[in-house]
Amino acid sequence: MAKALFIKTWGCQMNVYDSARMADVLAPVGYHPVDRAEDADMVILNTCHIREKAADKVFSELGRLKALKRRKAVNGGRLIIAVAGCVGQAEGAEIMARAPYVDMVFGPQTFHRLPEMVAAADSAPGQGVLDTEFPPESKFDFLPEEQGSQGISAFLAIQEGCDRFCTYCVVPYTRGAEFSRPAADILAEAQRLLAGGAVELTLLGQNVNAWKAAAPNGGTWGLGRLLREVAELEGVARLRYTTSHPSDMDEDLIQAHRDVPTLMPFVHLPVQSGSDLILAAMNRRHKAADYLRVVERLRAARPDIGLSSDFIVGFPGETDQDFADTLALIEAVGYAQAYSFKYSARPGTPAALLETDHVPDDIKTERLAVLQELVNRQQLAFNRALIGSVMPVLFDRPGKRAGQLLGRSPYMQSVHAEAGGERLGTLAPVRILGAHANSLSGRLVDSKEPEAAPCPETPA
Ligand code: SAH
Ligand code: SF4
Ligand code: F3S
Repeated sequence: MAKALFIKTWGCQMNVYDSARMADVLAPVGYHPVDRAEDADMVILNTCHIREKAADKVFSELGRLKALKRRKAVNGGRLIIAVAGCVGQAEGAEIMARAPYVDMVFGPQTFHRLPEMVAAADSAPGQGVLDTEFPPESKFDFLPEEQGSQGISAFLAIQEGCDRFCTYCVVPYTRGAEFSRPAADILAEAQRLLAGGAVELTLLGQNVNAWKAAAPNGGTWGLGRLLREVAELEGVARLRYTTSHPSDMDEDLIQAHRDVPTLMPFVHLPVQSGSDLILAAMNRRHKAADYLRVVERLRAARPDIGLSSDFIVGFPGETDQDFADTLALIEAVGYAQAYSFKYSARPGTPAALLETDHVPDDIKTERLAVLQELVNRQQLAFNRALIGSVMPVLFDRPGKRAGQLLGRSPYMQSVHAEAGGERLGTLAPVRILGAHANSLSGRLVDSKEPEAAPCPETPA
């Protein structure tokens, strides 16, 4: 019997990828995706544990679902509620105890077993199924092929888990040990995504540039080689990868930015802090100067590269001087964009146990505002510097106004331009005319326009 599935996703791109894979796993047992919890027979919350706020959202959402489940029961229906993802992994037993109306809890590494979990939940309603094991098998060997098109811009998980154990971070505990998928599997999945209409592929991993795996014909490849091989597949217009650790940025990967034209000139390279003392306390295992050298090498390989980063302010023990060092690093790099967060103590991580002074919340708030003001200024300067240039834009959604489309530049900026619906899903050259804090606007370049600059990404 056909049943409806609603998945709500929080967290990183890997969770977005996982949610799509969960739908694939459930399709053969009769579940098809719908857009609202109200219409669903099963709701999966695919959750994020990275900061306290992220985890808190799960319990407030569960409260709403409990009421929905009760309404359905009154009308003789049934709603299966599942908690997946990193909160499921970290707090599975607690969720079962606190929210007994939850039917299933599982983590990022066991969702290939969803059909068995659903069967167990069906045969003993009210019992609760908990599966937060780190199984010896890799789920990737059990996941069915993707169902249908994954869109023009598709995610492809190539690496998962993390062995770096930054002292503030839950990921090594929620995702488990680093695992790299074999190159042949990745190439096959990439081919399917491209055949299904994708033109942009983003290779994903918690520590994606640590990817190292068996090559199809023996030997071992790193990420640089993998990108070169994926770039050879028919239909690839754009390649990206995220998220990278500065210490895993090897020479071959850096040179891939010089050699592979479809590899976008944009790298998300989190540094977290510019203070060597804080970096050491975070167990980042690199200094600020090491990071700046990586940036320099990337820029030597690809001078027009844009950089992005993550920052944590208010790590335990962070002084005014440490924070000033972070601002100095930001000044030295000049970012195209960046994400920044107040430090959030996470249960089970070493930093949460530090005896060092915790930074008061008002200081965290103040530092975050100062940092964001600096980054926003850099972002606006980066955007403004593009005015007058012609950039290839991948139009992926309708704009706010009729006759307008929105797309992404090579630097991930949103670009809007007047364009007909037939341009959706295509790359087109756009002359940038306006720059705002978070977006650009421009005009499609008519191929007859005499002064149009060459647009390397647009197929001739
Ligand atoms: N694997 C990636 C990203 C991990 S999570 C990496 O290694 O960079 C995304 C970002 O969340 C991190 O880069 C960090 O800036 C932030 N983050 C992680 N744990 C945090 C915590 N306890 N408090 C605040 N921010 C955190
Ligand atoms: Fe977390 Fe550090 Fe691993 Fe990134 S490298 S996932 S911040 S432990
Ligand atoms: Fe969040 Fe887990 Fe991703 S904690 S950031 S969903 S790896």
